[in-house]
Amino acid sequence: METQLKAPNGKSWSQPRGLFIKNEFVKSSNEQTLTSVNPTTEEEICSVYAATADDIDQAVKAARRAFKHPSWKQLSGTERGVLMNKLADLVGEHAEVLAAIECMDNGKPYSAALTGDVVDVQNVLRYYAGYADKNFGQVIDVGPTKMAYTVKEPLGVCGQIIPWNYPLSMAGWKLGPALCCGNTIVLKLAEQTPLSMLYFGNLIRAAGFPPGVVNIVNGHGREAGAALVQHPDVDKVAFTGSTATGKEIMKMASSTMKNITLETGGKSPLIVFEDADLDLAARWSHEGIMSNQGQICTATSRILVHESVYDAFVDKFKSTVKRVSVLGDPFEESTYQGPQVTKTQYDRVLAYIQAGKEEGATIAMGGEAVSHKGKGFFVSPTVFTDVKPSMRIYREEIFGPCVAIASFKTEEEAVALANDTTYGLGSALFTRDLTRAHRVARELEAGMVWINSSNDSDFRVPFGGVKQSGIGRELGEAGLAAYCNTKAIHVNMRA
Ligand code: NAI
Ligand code: MG
Repeated sequence: METQLKAPNGKSWSQPRGLFIKNEFVKSSNEQTLTSVNPTTEEEICSVYAATADDIDQAVKAARRAFKHPSWKQLSGTERGVLMNKLADLVGEHAEVLAAIECMDNGKPYSAALTGDVVDVQNVLRYYAGYADKNFGQVIDVGPTKMAYTVKEPLGVCGQIIPWNYPLSMAGWKLGPALCCGNTIVLKLAEQTPLSMLYFGNLIRAAGFPPGVVNIVNGHGREAGAALVQHPDVDKVAFTGSTATGKEIMKMASSTMKNITLETGGKSPLIVFEDADLDLAARWSHEGIMSNQGQICTATSRILVHESVYDAFVDKFKSTVKRVSVLGDPFEESTYQGPQVTKTQYDRVLAYIQAGKEEGATIAMGGEAVSHKGKGFFVSPTVFTDVKPSMRIYREEIFGPCVAIASFKTEEEAVALANDTTYGLGSALFTRDLTRAHRVARELEAGMVWINSSNDSDFRVPFGGVKQSGIGRELGEAGLAAYCNTKAIHVNMRA
């Protein structure tokens, strides 16, 4: 059920391979497995057990029993918060192993995993641990002879499905508020990155969560994911991933009218006005599309630049890419960009680059498959200029290190171009004009706006989209709404 693994940086650990159900690692019912590949070396890391529909049923049953069991149900919010803080401490103690697993399995730089993803999980757990005894209802004045009050109660068994771009973070964002409110969980990991959150199962058990409160399974989307979404005893589904799969999930969840939260795709715009600080704009817009190998739902992948500063901005953007986007072994301290997560994603990104060429966009930089020591799914950071809004590279989510830069003449045109998309996740604008900044922020059809930055994310601030980028919010106080009911209780005090 476990295998010894060693990362290139010398870190070694015992990697669980089972399904984590009732605080135990178990085989899948038919012993099927899936194999995780290291995208830097293209070598297999190990195989893990992959859940069947029967296994999902076992995990849901475990979560239901745990939900009703006094060892969880009778815990006060304060006591749940203590468990969550303990879990956050354990994440800190195991930070180096978690970061090494993430680097090997996903291809993201080790330093980014250690100082970004792992810290994010701790922050989110601690934030919602603090809320666990502060999420209460109201007393509502309905006159002297009656009384009404509300209580916040957990939804029940939550099915949570996460993607491969931030395995630890995405799990943390979902576990934090769900545990805070007293739910129990079946978390399905992405088949491309099955390892870090399986290791995390050890920490759940060590923190002292009763068996069945958090169950963690691997498995294929169409099999294990679909079984979880369709399971009649699951009360809520929270999903992060592609818009296409999000729509499927909405349909499947309708059979028993499950509560859903969806965080899906994006094609987020970043507007550079003529009065912008171009150095600042170049720095943030580079980060906004090139970090995490461009595999970010909120990536500001469409840059709209005022025509008077277009050439100057493109020059600064290109020199930022040259200086910052160092490709290579993600375990090297100097590496900024590792490989794309899988061969499938690598092929998909390269196909978009080809489409951009065929549609007549100019490749101002990059646009090539590259390798490290002859291996790996690396794509050079790619800058498209002369991009027209009709082009696929302008309209569709590429999910790679590729940016489309177009120009505009007026503020009105910039807003219209920015909003000309079925998505509405992030958006950014650069200007020194305070009035314009706030005016445009309100005009942008997006769940989040960054003024003079891009892709700022903070556990205290709500995260989520409008239009086809999703439903509901994660993080912040708003994130609690996704995991509790407000029950109204009426009391008659007249004889
Ligand atoms: P996906 O949306 O299909 O997969 C995400 C998760 O959903 C995985 O855990 C997967 O197993 C599960 N899943 C897949 N089909 C399912 C189904 N029918 N029922 C239940 N669960 C299911 O995304 P995929 O195929 O890995 O990536 C394709 C594209 O999606 C990417 O190129 C990118 O554009 C987008 N994407 C967006 C993400 C985001 O953060 N918004 C994250 C990952 C992918
Ligand atoms: Mg992998």
